[in-house]
Amino acid sequence: MRSQILRSVQSVARKSNYTRNYASAASPERKVTILGAAGGIGQSLSMLMKLNPLVSTLSLYDLAGTPGVAADVSHINTRAQVFGYAEDKELGKALEGSDVVIIPAGVPRKPGMTRDDLFKINAGIVKNLCKSVAKYCPNALVNMISNPVNSTVPIASEVFKNAGTYDPKRLFGVTTLDVVRAKTFYATKAGLPVEEVNVPVVGGHAGITILPLFSQAHPQANLSNADIQYLTKRTQDGGTEVVEAKAGKGSATLSMAYAGAIFADACLKGLNGVPDVVECSYVASTVTDLPFFASKVRLGKNGVEEIYGLGTLSQYEQESLEKLKAELKSSIDKGIEFASNE
Ligand code: LAC
Repeated sequence: MRSQILRSVQSVARKSNYTRNYASAASPERKVTILGAAGGIGQSLSMLMKLNPLVSTLSLYDLAGTPGVAADVSHINTRAQVFGYAEDKELGKALEGSDVVIIPAGVPRKPGMTRDDLFKINAGIVKNLCKSVAKYCPNALVNMISNPVNSTVPIASEVFKNAGTYDPKRLFGVTTLDVVRAKTFYATKAGLPVEEVNVPVVGGHAGITILPLFSQAHPQANLSNADIQYLTKRTQDGGTEVVEAKAGKGSATLSMAYAGAIFADACLKGLNGVPDVVECSYVASTVTDLPFFASKVRLGKNGVEEIYGLGTLSQYEQESLEKLKAELKSSIDKGIEFASNE
């Protein structure tokens, strides 16, 4: 039984990007910090990062519950040394020397809420945490998960600008869950093995701003326009599907943690000099006329090494792109205005 389980884990590991280039004896020391580590996303994310052999120090910060999560996760027999920090005054220690900071802190959606409805609470949380990031680990790659990502990334950029530490190559909105969903839904509809499927997702991380480019999906399947429209809408509403299924108990935590772990792993591989690490992410961008936009990004030793253009779009994608711009722009403006108003 044990060897059967081991074999299947090894076979998943061979196939998955997450574990590609995983354990190398020469892996450099890397500190990953999770802000909001005891929350719904944070706990699973803490576990997944503890399983990543590229991590040598795992620093877990939250206002409540961190000692328990840190003690629990620390017993897993993998490389990372785990440290828990539970008080505001320990935030500096938690952040010092971080290579990657992942921020899932904040409150999740309840049924009927959009991600923008979280702005009032999460914007302030993100702003304060980013002030500390600027102070204690200005060179870290920041992976923003806290919603609304379309606004919290611009907020972080303003905080870093005010602190004189802003480097657009080091700030990322995590949109990997949109890619994860698009892959799953597309593979299911097309009857393809999901591990062989890739779908770029561009735009932002809320409703119609999420734009999966099924015309560029690999492998190409012969799907009807109606199928493509269905898959697009399902990807855009994926988060809401989970919020409704959880019926008041929050939003996606497990799949979000998985997506966050994939993206942080890609950042670590980039830092370690692994070539051709490409993920979609919401970054400062000139791909459109908007200052922030998600598209395929190559990750390297400095964070963003290259931002890829959108490629050839289908007419439906082109129209959807035009439609999403106004909403994305207003979310960006809202974030920038909030950050500059204090
Ligand atoms: C989602 C939330 C977590 O996409 O943003 O489900």
